[in-house]
Amino acid sequence: MTTEPIDLRAVLSTFDELWSPRIAARINDYDVRVTHVKGSYIWHVHDTTDEFFLVLEGELSIGLRDPHERVVSLPAGSVFVVPKGIYHRPFSDGGAQIVVIEPAGIPTTGDSHDPLPDHIKTHTGIDL
Ligand code: NI
Repeated sequence: MTTEPIDLRAVLSTFDELWSPRIAARINDYDVRVTHVKGSYIWHVHDTTDEFFLVLEGELSIGLRDPHERVVSLPAGSVFVVPKGIYHRPFSDGGAQIVVIEPAGIPTTGDSHDPLPDHIKTHTGIDL
């Protein structure tokens, strides 16, 4: 990890894959991940950790089953925390750029998830 400032827009300009977070920074045992998103992710759940979202550009929606299904809409500049154990499905019709903060090593698709379409891979964030 660098000790220099990191321009998140510059990081985002280095790739265009969707739903494929890059690890921009680490704070203690947590990753600060950035990614482009568009269309729908899959329903999934993280059994042991909350997941923090910050929207940089565009608008992100997150479907939640807590336990009744609802959707939160996050315009740019919004943050939201999905509690551990809650199934969620991020989606963005128009596309968005987001920051996700969660413990290092946590897989993007959670501990349980719906079947993965071709464009969604499980990983734990890609180093810069
Ligand atoms: Ni998640």
